[in-house]
Amino acid sequence: MRLRTLRDLEVEGKRVLTRVDYNVPLEDGRVADDTRIRATLPTLAALRERGARVILCSHLGRPKGQVREELRLAPVAGRLAELLGAPVRYVRDIVGAEARAMAEALEPGEVGLLENLRFDPREEQNDPGFARELASLAECYVNDAFGAAHRAHASTAGVTAFLPSAAGLLMEREIQALTRVLEADEHPFVLILGGAKVSDKIGVIENLSQRVDALLLGGGMANTFLKALGYEVGRSLVEDDRLDEAKRLLSRVEKRGVQVVLPVDVVVAPALEAVDRARKVLVSEVTPADAIFDIGPLTVARFAEVIGGAALVVWNGPMGVFEVPAFREGTRGIAQAVAACAGFTVVGGGDSAAAVGELGLTDRIDHVSTGGGATLEFLEGKELPGVRVLMEAEE
Ligand code: 3PG
Repeated sequence: MRLRTLRDLEVEGKRVLTRVDYNVPLEDGRVADDTRIRATLPTLAALRERGARVILCSHLGRPKGQVREELRLAPVAGRLAELLGAPVRYVRDIVGAEARAMAEALEPGEVGLLENLRFDPREEQNDPGFARELASLAECYVNDAFGAAHRAHASTAGVTAFLPSAAGLLMEREIQALTRVLEADEHPFVLILGGAKVSDKIGVIENLSQRVDALLLGGGMANTFLKALGYEVGRSLVEDDRLDEAKRLLSRVEKRGVQVVLPVDVVVAPALEAVDRARKVLVSEVTPADAIFDIGPLTVARFAEVIGGAALVVWNGPMGVFEVPAFREGTRGIAQAVAACAGFTVVGGGDSAAAVGELGLTDRIDHVSTGGGATLEFLEGKELPGVRVLMEAEE
């Protein structure tokens, strides 16, 4: 199977319905992080250069089929216009008369933006009638919303039944980089996982542990592994219902010859707010009154040594509570180690991508994925519905 791309689509002069993932954080009515908007600029430039009339559509948040004023796409339209240096014709409508009028008025090279797709309940239901109405605004369809490709919704899946379709450049780049992780025989392959929960990462560990050489575990999820191995973790976040599973997983992975590295030291405090009482301790020194909020410097050094020798690195999930300055050193240290690694480096999704961005290291990582759940599902080996509909049989 091959992915249909922009090169397969005749877009010249055509109205192109373009699905993007502009599900970005907002603060005080402004876009707080425009990474996902910037990531679509190459596709928009390519379409505009070819004289396409670009009709953008996206979801924002989870309004559950209701109009929610705070989830309108107006701030996104404003930021996009700044980045493009061109007007964006934003309409407070998805498939009604206003949307239709906007689509019809677009000149070649112009860009319009429809209202939040999830204001209409039919979007998440993948309703064929809604997909047909969306499709009727345009003559072809481009999907650049990798971050939403794990959702089988009208704008990511259903619409392809009605229009010639292809992946945008961001979608293509994401699939290429993540497929390299799944398929390439590059060793040492180091997988770094953090974030709050083991349960979110089990699928990725299972799928990648066949080929991974080292598995470095940090963040809240490491607490569950530490407790499963008999360590005191005090008041730390732990998934008590996953202890047995964590233990079995560790032994299974180690049997496959994977080097598993857990924290040897951590940063603890009595509570998240008690930063003035934060201490760096060995994992054997954690008391029942402590909670673990970050990995410690010895662990950073140990992880960095393994990362330094890697040919392929995949990192998903922060090493600690990155939002709190007292607990961000672990994540910062790992971000720097990944950035310094000479191998092919991939940072997947959400919090770890934001951390890399805040530290100004994005340019030093080979691929920073814009997906959250989509990236994890891809790395679990699942077929994403939004990608499947863009594939065709090889000739
Ligand atoms: C994301 O932020 O991961 C995507 O935009 C998908 O959002 P969703 O989880 O609300 O479908």
